[in-house]
Amino acid sequence: MAKDRVLSGMRPTGKLHFGHYKGVLTNWLKLQQEYDCYFFVADWHALTTDYADPSGVKENVKEMVLDWLSVGIDPAKSDIFLQSSVPEHAELMVLLSMITPVPWLERNPTYKEQQEELKDKDIHTHGFLGYPVLQTADIIIYKANKVPVGIDQAPHVELSREITRRFNNFYGKVFPEPQTLLAPTSKVLGTDGRKMSKSYNNSVYLTDPPATVEKKLKTMVTDTARQRKTDPGNPDICPFFETFHTLYASEAERAEIREGCTTAAFGCIDCKMRVIPKVLEELEPIQKKRAELEATPGIVESVLKDGTDRARAVAQTTMEEVRRAMGLNFF
Ligand code: TRP
Repeated sequence: MAKDRVLSGMRPTGKLHFGHYKGVLTNWLKLQQEYDCYFFVADWHALTTDYADPSGVKENVKEMVLDWLSVGIDPAKSDIFLQSSVPEHAELMVLLSMITPVPWLERNPTYKEQQEELKDKDIHTHGFLGYPVLQTADIIIYKANKVPVGIDQAPHVELSREITRRFNNFYGKVFPEPQTLLAPTSKVLGTDGRKMSKSYNNSVYLTDPPATVEKKLKTMVTDTARQRKTDPGNPDICPFFETFHTLYASEAERAEIREGCTTAAFGCIDCKMRVIPKVLEELEPIQKKRAELEATPGIVESVLKDGTDRARAVAQTTMEEVRRAMGLNFF
């Protein structure tokens, strides 16, 4: 039996942080052992917000792919490619645009949320409204069955299913309906206690030197009501506990930490030092791999070129089928 096909993409935002690593990449690493995986750089999607100044996109693509490879996304197992090098995505997007009702796009929760959040950018554009249509093309052009995403992207995959169903109704069953694979990991919090995000300036990056990682973690917000070391703390409202102790401490260690915190037996720094060495230990081979990759000229380009060639062959086959289904095969 053929393996199910998994596809996911990330917008190139530059160097990746722990949120990307624990929230997304560890899941990809597992999936690449089991499925036929396609992981791609969504550089066109980056333009929905960065169209006025795309000068940083190329560098961001490079940094992101270096991080993917450093953590172990393996081009021998997974197809790693660049969206803009497979123009068939755009052709399919045009065709899907014809059948996608505008109200479906206006109802998309991220459409309104992002307008609110990115006040400094004008995203009242056709491209931004059509973001989920492009995303649908990205997915179904490979006939992917499973799409691993975070909860914030779930409405987009749901829209993809609806658009796919509509296409199949009009032109015959060309595409499987993609399923969401919700990533199992919980939200990773940043040093200020909010969700870890580049734009909040609260991130711990995979490329941060060990001393920086240690410093960021030592100064990360804890239970803010715990003013003095002698005050008892509450791990249930401690962002460090919620993220780093949950990710790096065993059940037994967490019970011990809970005891020590609630009885003020130890302070926050002592408490954090129980897992900081484990974080650093995990980062070490990742950073070593990155140094090797950085010393290999053209590595990102060659990985992307290879993956893109293979992906493009699949996308071209699908488009022939699409054109036939829609009666667009004139020649
Ligand atoms: N929208 C996704 C994000 O911002 C990126 C993305 C683009 C994607 N196309 C996709 C994810 C297709 C999964 C499948 O994270």
